[in-house]
Amino acid sequence: MCGIVGYAGGKSAAGELFEGLKKLEYRGYDSAGISTLGGGSIFTIKKSGRVEGLAPRMGELEGCVGIGHTRWATHGEANDVNAHPHIYGSFSIVHNGIIENYAELKAELSAEGHVFFSHTDSEVIAHLLDYYYKGNFAEALSLACSRLKGCWAIAALCKQFQGFTVTRHGSPAILGEGEDGFFVASDMYALMGRARSYCILADGDIALVTPRGISIYDGQLQPVARNFSPLEWEEEEVGTGGCPHYMLKEIRQNARTVRATCRAFASSGCGGQCSRLKEADKIVLVGCGTAYNAALAAVRLLGGAYECPVSAHIASEARYDPPRVTQKSVCIAVSQSGETADTIMAAKILKDGGAYLIAVTNVGYSAITRFADKVVPVCAGAEVCVAATKSYIGQLACFHMLAAPCAPRVRCGALMKIADDIERVVSDGVYAANIASLCVKSRAVFFLGRGADVDVAVEGSLKLKEVSYIFSDGYPAGELKHGTLALIDESVLSVVLICDESLCEKSKTAVEQILSRKGKVAVITTLPHIYAELSARVSAAWLLPCAPSHLAHFLSATALQLIAYHAAVMAGRDPDKPRNLAKSVTVE
Ligand code: M6R
Repeated sequence: MCGIVGYAGGKSAAGELFEGLKKLEYRGYDSAGISTLGGGSIFTIKKSGRVEGLAPRMGELEGCVGIGHTRWATHGEANDVNAHPHIYGSFSIVHNGIIENYAELKAELSAEGHVFFSHTDSEVIAHLLDYYYKGNFAEALSLACSRLKGCWAIAALCKQFQGFTVTRHGSPAILGEGEDGFFVASDMYALMGRARSYCILADGDIALVTPRGISIYDGQLQPVARNFSPLEWEEEEVGTGGCPHYMLKEIRQNARTVRATCRAFASSGCGGQCSRLKEADKIVLVGCGTAYNAALAAVRLLGGAYECPVSAHIASEARYDPPRVTQKSVCIAVSQSGETADTIMAAKILKDGGAYLIAVTNVGYSAITRFADKVVPVCAGAEVCVAATKSYIGQLACFHMLAAPCAPRVRCGALMKIADDIERVVSDGVYAANIASLCVKSRAVFFLGRGADVDVAVEGSLKLKEVSYIFSDGYPAGELKHGTLALIDESVLSVVLICDESLCEKSKTAVEQILSRKGKVAVITTLPHIYAELSARVSAAWLLPCAPSHLAHFLSATALQLIAYHAAVMAGRDPDKPRNLAKSVTVE
């Protein structure tokens, strides 16, 4: 949450930082700000709202060194004063994370005569730097951090130092070396196209970044050598690729995500994990949001492939009430970003309890990859839209591969075929738009299914509410008559998924129950006979390509993602940046 950028080099810092912040905006977009250093002075602009709001005042920023921030508010409302950078004395700081003991530090420094301006936890860092500074910036930062509790990535300017410092504890910070200067960013995406090589700063390290280079020190302020790796990226990863929004671009990448994920599974030796699963006494999955919804699908897939019990747990619950594990258990942590605080905590607790830890993640350099025993890569490429789409599809592909201990090639072949079918679904945009128009006219939208369709219904509901702000819920169709039927009337739409031949008669019953209460129904099915029977009787029907029931979720999930996208656009929302949300929830 929140984005940090820093630049020191031969160019004007303001432009570099502004471009970096625009790329990081998906990390938080309540407010934004930049400080630059020029001629021994610090120049600062900051404002609530989007990064673009800084544009009219960019001319005020001088110098070739600076730091910037885009915020997702945790402490203090999203206004101009609470926006970062925070300034005190000779210092300007930007911070990602949470300072848990800020109130006591604030009281202590106030007693020393410090005056605070904001309601944030972060401002205390600028005051601590001022308090500890005796002419050595790195030392002051080290002393300041020794007083903090919580998690942080910090970039700071000091009027007396021609550069900036960076440190971290639990929140990501990546250093970059480019042709025209040196960078820090909280996310690799901001470095693409600007840095040639990168280095993930280790917890406790302090980096001094100047226009001449980067020096890194360990926690004892001793110089340390850290490796920089070439930053490889594909041109198409950056930008919306001609689509009006990242969300649409990313849904259109579902098929290639399945293909790339299958190939990577084979080439990175992940097949060996199947033997580990075979020997496990239990498999527990943890994740949040969409990643948890993918874990629900994994329970069915892995449960059908292995004999031991398989269960999925919401990470924010599991960390306080963890399932019992032994040395023979396997924990699979599912996380697009690999940085979600609750997932990391739950995974650490289960690993400490003896479980072997597999991370299923889209970000190969993320926090979770540093303590997992094995990483199973999701190859979705950068996912910029706050709503997870292609990463969910990639996670499903990983679970299919993990669930095929005996015939991985056959499973891979089936996934390659389903990837072709996903492309067909994506090209059927008119059906998605039709159902989306019903959604935006409805007071509420329910997503129903049976068997594997339930998991997709739950994820489809999350997607719709997240990007369109229409109230929705996803649940098993059989539960309708146990309560939710009371909510059904002509102003409510029910989207019924019917992709499993063995359960389709039961799902039809739910459709009848809704129609007889004058509720609106949209049916999404892979079964031609269901489409033939129901299409004339419901408000909308979408026939997806035929697919075996265990693979149909790739198609129905893609369909629901498209519906959510179109509903958001029709409702006048920004699907890429839903209100109050941010990509990658690195705070608890
Ligand atoms: O990066 P992660 O997969 O760990 O993120 C988990 C959730 O925060 C995430 O899936 C969230 O629910 C998305 N906004 C859903 O679209």
